[in-house]
Amino acid sequence: MTTTAFERRPAAGLARVVAVINGKGGVYKSSICSSVGGLAAEAGWRVGLIDFDIQGNLAEDLGLNDITDEGEHQLDVIPGGKPFEFKPTGRERLEIIPGGPILEDLAAVMQGRQSRDPEWMHALANSIAAVEEDYDLILIDCPPGFPILQTLALVAARYVIIPTRSDAGSRKGMRMVARRFTNARAYNPDLELLGVVRTGITSSAKGIREEVRKEIAEDLGGAAPVFETCIRYAERPAKAVRDTGKLPHELEPEAEAWFKDRFARMKERRAREAVEKAASKPGSHRADPRLEAEIVFAPSTSGLAQDYAELTQEFVDLLHAAEERAEETA
Ligand SMILES: Nc1ncnc2c1ncn2[C@@H]1O[C@H](COP(=O)(O)OP(=O)(O)O)[C@@H](O)[C@H]1O
Ligand SMILES: [Mg+2]
Repeated sequence: MTTTAFERRPAAGLARVVAVINGKGGVYKSSICSSVGGLAAEAGWRVGLIDFDIQGNLAEDLGLNDITDEGEHQLDVIPGGKPFEFKPTGRERLEIIPGGPILEDLAAVMQGRQSRDPEWMHALANSIAAVEEDYDLILIDCPPGFPILQTLALVAARYVIIPTRSDAGSRKGMRMVARRFTNARAYNPDLELLGVVRTGITSSAKGIREEVRKEIAEDLGGAAPVFETCIRYAERPAKAVRDTGKLPHELEPEAEAWFKDRFARMKERRAREAVEKAASKPGSHRADPRLEAEIVFAPSTSGLAQDYAELTQEFVDLLHAAEERAEETA
């Protein structure tokens, strides 16, 4: 696909750096980064993925086990805030900074820094800032442990996505991240929670999903934004992703076709709205784009890939809405 279905960053320039984080492993952080990043790249965005976890799962998801440097480049550049050099993933417009066990050394180095460098927490942000203009979206796949790495990520990000399952451990991890989020805002006041994603959902029953939504509100003390889209529990496709190095939508072409069609429609709608907005006179009624959004029914064949296509769509809508809000208050 050669068209650009997503809008580029507005000229005013808000950083599209998004941290995907939870203090617990196994809540699909890495899977969300690889799939949302992969689909956004398909749709025309230039996407950079930063694997900030010692497990290095992003390379696995993308079939890059043979080329990963296990985090060495990050150890080379982050302590000095030097520019990142992203590596190709074999997919158009999708690039990666691999993670892996060497990030443990990075954590130790940064730990040593804390006492003597008051600016230490901006190190990752500086490595990203130097190349940020080359990307429409940068996703940071955060580690469940290593508070120091989590802080670096939260200071570098503009937005946060928290995936969570409904078990006690994931909810505890979410509360922990909420506290870290609040602390990081002292250095990064623009940091915004884009939303919580409910993952590992085993039932299509609406009741279950609403129950999890209530739990999230309890855990985060009220008005937490929650994505409508849930990521279902689908063990076999998920295992196939890690085994084959192909993303869910690459394994299931129907979902990809649906996604591309959906984006073509969104692009048309946005173009139409821009014309209407320009033509509208003061006081005249302007249509709310959200009300206009058509509900498109997807092919029923591809479950997990479908969830990710919908999540990516919702993510992009939320991002645009957040950027519009920021522009209005600027
Ligand atoms: N939709 C899914 N259904 C079932 N298992 C999944 C799903 N997505 C990922 N998994 C598996 O769950 C484990 C954790 O997923 P991962 O994305 O690595 O989470 P995290 O990055 O939060 O630790 C992995 O073994 C992965 O293969
Ligand atoms: Mg992970």
